[in-house]
Amino acid sequence: MNKLYLTLLLLLGVSLTKAEDGHSLWLRMSKNDVPANVRTQGVKKSVVVTTATNELKQYWKGGQVILSLTGKSTDDTYSIGNDNGVITVTSSTENGLLYGAYTLLRLQQTGETVKTMSDSPTSSLRILNHWDNPNGTVERGFSGKSIFWKEGGMADLEIVKEYGRVCASVGINATVLNNVNAKPLMLDAKKLTETKRIADVLRPYGIRVFLSINFATPKVIGGLETADPLDKKVVEWWNKKCAEIYKKIPDFGGFLVKANSEGEPGPMDYGRNHADGANMLADALNKGFEAVKHAANTPKPIVMWRAFVYSPKGMDRASQAYDEFMPLDGQFRDNVIIQVKNGPIDFQPREPVSPLFFSLEKTPVMPEFQITQEYTGESIHTCFLASMWKEFFDTIKGYARVKKYDAVAGVANVGDMRNWCGSDMTQVNWYAFGRMAWNDAITPQQIADEWLKMTYTTDKAFVEPMTDVLMESREAVVRYMMPLGLHHIFAGGHHYGPEPWCDPKGWREDWKPKYYHKADKMGIGFDRTMNGSQNVRQYPDALFNIYNKVDECPEQLLLWFHHVPWTHKMHNGETLWEALCHTYDHGVRQAEAFARIWNQMKPYVDAERYEAQKLNFDRQAKDAWWWRDACLLYFQQFSGMKLPLDCPVPKYKCEDLQKYNLPIDNYTRAPFEKLP
Ligand code: GCU
Repeated sequence: MNKLYLTLLLLLGVSLTKAEDGHSLWLRMSKNDVPANVRTQGVKKSVVVTTATNELKQYWKGGQVILSLTGKSTDDTYSIGNDNGVITVTSSTENGLLYGAYTLLRLQQTGETVKTMSDSPTSSLRILNHWDNPNGTVERGFSGKSIFWKEGGMADLEIVKEYGRVCASVGINATVLNNVNAKPLMLDAKKLTETKRIADVLRPYGIRVFLSINFATPKVIGGLETADPLDKKVVEWWNKKCAEIYKKIPDFGGFLVKANSEGEPGPMDYGRNHADGANMLADALNKGFEAVKHAANTPKPIVMWRAFVYSPKGMDRASQAYDEFMPLDGQFRDNVIIQVKNGPIDFQPREPVSPLFFSLEKTPVMPEFQITQEYTGESIHTCFLASMWKEFFDTIKGYARVKKYDAVAGVANVGDMRNWCGSDMTQVNWYAFGRMAWNDAITPQQIADEWLKMTYTTDKAFVEPMTDVLMESREAVVRYMMPLGLHHIFAGGHHYGPEPWCDPKGWREDWKPKYYHKADKMGIGFDRTMNGSQNVRQYPDALFNIYNKVDECPEQLLLWFHHVPWTHKMHNGETLWEALCHTYDHGVRQAEAFARIWNQMKPYVDAERYEAQKLNFDRQAKDAWWWRDACLLYFQQFSGMKLPLDCPVPKYKCEDLQKYNLPIDNYTRAPFEKLP
């Protein structure tokens, strides 16, 4: 090779590695020339504490740190003491010491002083769910391909290691490596060896691995005639499979299961119920676990059995999980947890809390949030989901019997793009999930402030306006997509843009927007009151009494629970139609303001990240118009009313938008060049 060419290539290589591509996320500490002074106390051999020690040695700029393992508790509580600059982190778990170390680094990065403190996790299991397929695609992934599974190859362990570090830095301690729409081959010997490879790399970061399983696996790869959970051969097959898993991965966490949902197989294919299926797996996991040696305090395996079920026959999709699971309350093994999406439908920009959280009494439940923005603008729109999750936790604390959860799951937004999440601004939701799963009382404001300071700069001139943008972003998305309780009026083929008119022949009714908005000449909204589907009755009295009455129902959920006339009087005296128009407009104005504010942030952000994010904010503002015009012009055909005088003239024509089609699959982000 010609020397000049080689030199050019090398130079290019250097500049590429230096480019600010967002890969460092919020972990931007500079390395020490001389390692910091770090010692341990009470620690024998521990890969996790070694990670903690190394992180501090490399990045801690303050005085001596002592990591002290003491006490008997199994939760990851840690305390930090500061005695004239000598810092002691104390915990009775190795993970606790690791989280204490990352807290020191966070305080350093955000410019805070280290004060005496103690910090306990709300939930002991803080777990990511990856919807990654063995062929490398990621369902509802908007940030490239899987970092765990490669078609014809294996995971890049350097990236997996970085991923583990990032997760640990926000307290995430477990991960499900594959899609809930699971392929049976995930449990063959080859894939289990790959899983072990990944588990070994994540262990030093205090992260245990789990797998999603396909209920028909004994038939598909085991050659059995049935997958009936009460069939002896099937039970034996799962027992053996779990034994094989635990031999490879002694701290394997367990299974996540989507069964009899959206076409996935399950126990009901054999006339059994969810409990029969979950219990059989729970027992097999226990046997496998008990047969091997593992470190003391290794948590016992669990089955996370999902309650995301709905059938086309039911009258109201929002009621079906409750109808199917309530009769089984109390029939599940101790190591089964029912994993329930935060809302009763499917990760909409706003939903009420799923009624199952208030009703199951003898069966533990855990919430499932969606970090990947399937319904909130993919990796393009800024939509700070901490605000949504806070709304969930506030409702739980106000109205549920159980006020906190032992486990919290989040569907990850991680892929193999350099910036991990598809855009810099959507990285915030990965961070926020970890922080909120650790502490459900932390405020979104605090998360936004920390994240902005760590990811960009501590300069107030940047942090203050951008905190406002993040804090307003989720409500803005609700306003320009689906305000006042509207839901699921997305395009048929994708969940990025609006198609309230979408009505393809032969589709299930509950996959069509009309099923949800029910707009007609009389009005709009889904009547879930006692005069309608009676879904309101699934809520505890305190909420039932609010939701069931049209004048008491919070207006942000009005059209979720009520079908109301276009002339319905809102609390501020407007008609519903006027309120709908003004709310859509408000959302559009906010999205436009976000783009303008970002333009003013140019001096505080490196050129690469500034330009990349600018494209996204500009696109978000355009999409807000698309949503607003599509929905208002379509609904106007029913309301027959004019836009209020202060509402700007639409930019699009309804008939043009109705002809528009975006040909994308479930594994890719909407391409800018094809958007209207
Ligand atoms: C949504 C999503 C699917 C996913 C499903 C689930 O319906 O669109 O891609 O498989 O949720 O959570 O199981």
